[in-house]
Amino acid sequence: MLAAAPAKAADKIDPETDRKALQAYFFAKFPKTPVEDFANGPYAVNAEMRKQWKEIMEFPPYEIALDEGRAEWEKPFANGKHYADCFDNKGVGIRQTYPRFIAGTGQVETLEGAINRCRVENGEKPLDPMTGTMAALSAVMSESSRGKPFAIVIPDDPRALAAYESGKEFFYSRKGQLGVSCASCHMSPAGQRLRGDILAPALGILAAMPIYRSDWGSMGTSIRRISTCSSQTRALPLKADDEDYRNLEYFLSYMSNGVPIAGPGARP
Ligand code: HEC
Repeated sequence: MLAAAPAKAADKIDPETDRKALQAYFFAKFPKTPVEDFANGPYAVNAEMRKQWKEIMEFPPYEIALDEGRAEWEKPFANGKHYADCFDNKGVGIRQTYPRFIAGTGQVETLEGAINRCRVENGEKPLDPMTGTMAALSAVMSESSRGKPFAIVIPDDPRALAAYESGKEFFYSRKGQLGVSCASCHMSPAGQRLRGDILAPALGILAAMPIYRSDWGSMGTSIRRISTCSSQTRALPLKADDEDYRNLEYFLSYMSNGVPIAGPGARP
């Protein structure tokens, strides 16, 4: 049987069965890779890449962003409040619980979305969700969650299940001029080379976000990485906070429940 194949329309929405199937698929495909290593994307499954990455990690290029992020995190808003006031446990060690389904809005909220909501509710302008200060703040929150397994919750609410299902559909549906889906590159070809790159397995694919990527020369959040990939399929780019992208991130993160957070990360 082909594990992790998209469910037929008539099947009931069952995220936990999907998650077990997707994880079993990758554990069988990479039997020597321990679950925690799936947090390291292409390095998890390729020895040569792993060596390159260890060299990068001797002087991690995200350190500057972490310094900037820590300073920003401590700085009060004009009203005297702080980022920490917006989050459970003052924002420490909670990254693995995002994205979350918010009952009040009936929608999925990403970590970066929560940071921007915090700013707006405190009278500040939202940040660019892709890079810069936002990536720096996201790096600080991710670092405080390193080693904590993804623990995404899909509440028993038809709207949450529908959001999950829409993210799953996005992942598997073929789009753009090339007619490829996220799954076309990050499921069965994972570990294979595409031009100069080794394709990361879908399992754990967001665990190291945000990342410093030499190709960008800067930091990028999950949504920057997702939209970079999405544009490579030549599908129409969506807005960074588009509901479809949020649902996709919800699906991918839920699939990774059990894989520990490793962000911030570094990529060539
Ligand atoms: C044509 C092939 C292709 C398609 C389609 C594709 N990707 Fe990628 N993706 C890549 C390549 C190449 C990389 C860089 C090497 C790597 O990390 O896999 C990458 C990297 C990523 C990463 C970063 C992994 C890491 O650990 O650094 C994420 C996240 C990602 N892709 C998500 C997606 C999503 C979500 C979609 C669908 C919208 C998608 N990709 C579609 C080829 C593709």
